[in-house]
Amino acid sequence: MAKITVIGAGNVGATTAQRLAEKELGEVVLLDIVEDMPQGKALDLAESGPVYGYDTHVTGTNSYEATADSDIVVITSGIARKPGMSRDDLLKTNANIVKSVTEQVAKASPKAILIVVSNPLDAMTYVAYKASGFPAERVIGMAGVLDSARFRTFIAQELKVSVEDVQATVLGGHGDTMVPVLGCTTVAGIPITQLVAKDRLDAMVQRTRDGGAEIVKLLKTGSAYYAPSASAVEMVECILKDKRRILPCAVLAQGQYGVPGLFVGLPAVLGRKGLERIIEIELSSGEKAALDKSVAAVKELCETVDKLLAS
Ligand SMILES: NC(=O)c1ccc[n+]([C@@H]2O[C@H](COP(=O)([O-])OP(=O)(O)OC[C@H]3O[C@@H](n4cnc5c(N)ncnc54)[C@H](O)[C@@H]3O)[C@@H](O)[C@H]2O)c1
Repeated sequence: MAKITVIGAGNVGATTAQRLAEKELGEVVLLDIVEDMPQGKALDLAESGPVYGYDTHVTGTNSYEATADSDIVVITSGIARKPGMSRDDLLKTNANIVKSVTEQVAKASPKAILIVVSNPLDAMTYVAYKASGFPAERVIGMAGVLDSARFRTFIAQELKVSVEDVQATVLGGHGDTMVPVLGCTTVAGIPITQLVAKDRLDAMVQRTRDGGAEIVKLLKTGSAYYAPSASAVEMVECILKDKRRILPCAVLAQGQYGVPGLFVGLPAVLGRKGLERIIEIELSSGEKAALDKSVAAVKELCETVDKLLAS
C-alpha cells in the first residue's frame, strides 16, 4: 500500500487529503505546524469513511516521524501575502518554510517523490529540489494541470460541450506569463481555432492567466483550493499507477526548449519514477517568445530566492 504525506493542512492540503482518501490511493498522513488541527481534520476525514464508503487510513500529525518512508509527499505549506508585506518578504517567508519542510521530509522519506504546490510555484519547486538533494525526476511542481483545467473549463463553457472532450496545455511559469499553447488545444480532436473566434479565444487565454486572481477576488479571504487539490491528486494518481500521462508540470528543464537548468512548466510524462521524460512540442514563434519571457521571469525569481535565503 502506498503512503502519501500532505504537508500543510490548510485549504489545499486538507482538500488534497480528502480527495486522496476518497480515491483510496494509499495511506494518507496530514502534517501541519498548528497543534491538534491536522489530527482533527484527519479524524474528521476518517469518520467520513463509513458514509462515503472508503477505508483509507488517515493520520494527522505535527511530527515527521509519522511521515517516514512516504512514497509521495505533497508540499502545500506556506503563508498568503498579508497587508503591508512585500513580494520579497512573502518569497523569503515561503522559501524558508518550504526549505525547512523539505529538509525534514527528505530525512524521513529519502525515496519519496515530491509534488510542490506552495507559491510562488516555480521558485518553491526549485527550493525543494535544492533542499532535498533529490534527483530532478523526483521533484515536480503542480501548476500546469490547474492552469490547463481552468482553460479547459472556459472553453467547455463557451462551446457548451463536455469538459471531458476539451484538451489543453498551458506551459511556462505559474503566473502572469504562463503560455496556453493553442496548437495543443482541441475539442474532441478538433483544433480550437476552428471552433472559437480569435477575439473570444484571446479573452479565454487572458482569463486563464488571471484565473488565480479571479478566485481570490471572489473568495475575499484565501485562494483557490478545489481545483488545485484535484490537480495535485491527478499527479499523485498518475505516478502511483505508473500511468505515464502527459501532464504539464514544473520540471527541471536541462536544455529542452532552450531552457538551461530551470524549473518551469513543460509537458511531462509522469510515471512511477516521477518525471519519466519531457516532451518537446513545436511551438509557434509567438508561443516560443512567450515561453522565453516566462522562463526569464522564473529565472529572476529563483535568483532572488537564492539571494534571500543567503541573507
Ligand atoms: N501551485 C498552484 O497552482 C497553487 C494553487 C493554489 C494554492 N497554491 C499555494 O498553496 C499554498 C497553500 O495554500 P492554502 O490555500 O492551503 O493556504 P492555507 O493558509 O489554507 O494553508 C497553509 C497551511 O500551511 C501550514 N504551514 C505553514 N508553515 C508550515 C510549516 N513550516 N510546516 C507545516 N505546515 C506549515 C499553515 O499552518 C497552514 O495550515 C500557498 O502557498 C498557495 O499560494 C498553489
